[in-house]
Amino acid sequence: MKVLFIGDVVGSPGREMVKEYLPKLREKYRPSATIINGENAASGKGITEKIYKNFLEWGAQAITMGNHTWAKKEIFEFIEEAKYLIRPANYPEGTPGQSLVFVPVNNLEIAVINMQGRTFLSTLDDPFRKIDELIKIAKKRTNLIFIDFHAEATSEKQAFAWYVDGRASAVVGTHTHTQTADERILDKGTAYITDVGMTGPYDGILGVDRQSVMKQFLTNLPVRFEVTKEGKRQLNGCIITLDEKTGSATEIKRILINDDHPFFN
Ligand SMILES: [Fe+2]
Repeated sequence: MKVLFIGDVVGSPGREMVKEYLPKLREKYRPSATIINGENAASGKGITEKIYKNFLEWGAQAITMGNHTWAKKEIFEFIEEAKYLIRPANYPEGTPGQSLVFVPVNNLEIAVINMQGRTFLSTLDDPFRKIDELIKIAKKRTNLIFIDFHAEATSEKQAFAWYVDGRASAVVGTHTHTQTADERILDKGTAYITDVGMTGPYDGILGVDRQSVMKQFLTNLPVRFEVTKEGKRQLNGCIITLDEKTGSATEIKRILINDDHPFFN
């Protein structure tokens, strides 16, 4: 079985790329499930109910989040009903929303988990201890366990992936918006990539208007970051093949679509 993952969708340019390319990617790779990181989907920060529903309509089965989960106030109004919206698991007990979701696939289920790193991000609960708990719960129902680890530091991402090697099917890194070329299957069968990358503007800086980012570095003054709306776009993702019985990964391939890497059927 194949699982398609699309990296951090940024604003309307990212959403338009998903709308345009998701049908093409599904046609090409025939994934059994598609997961999208949508934490930047609403003008660069957060997600709205409309966007969440659009992603499902366009062919995704689950939407993972990250440190910007709560950026749009309306999230608190719909997160409890959004069955396939998955926020980081290591928020304190009682936080709204869900962090482990069983996605039905043919006659099986994939457990999809979102977890957030702590290095250079908020000090949430320990993602390592938390994942032990969640894997135990997930294993009661399925061997197919897919984790979006939303984190900044490459060291924390690698440590986390090796920590769950052989217990999870895949650990895909998100958040840095820059795709890494280190995709591999770890020794005990977990597919891993440090960061899947970003879906959105290609000529901005991590999706943000270049001028404002440069201004901040040059002046250190507060600057308002806007998503680059005009110009070239990109889609970053990966496609992972899993053994349905064991839950182990057998292949991981990066997906990179932009003007320098055009899409071929
Ligand atoms: Fe993030």
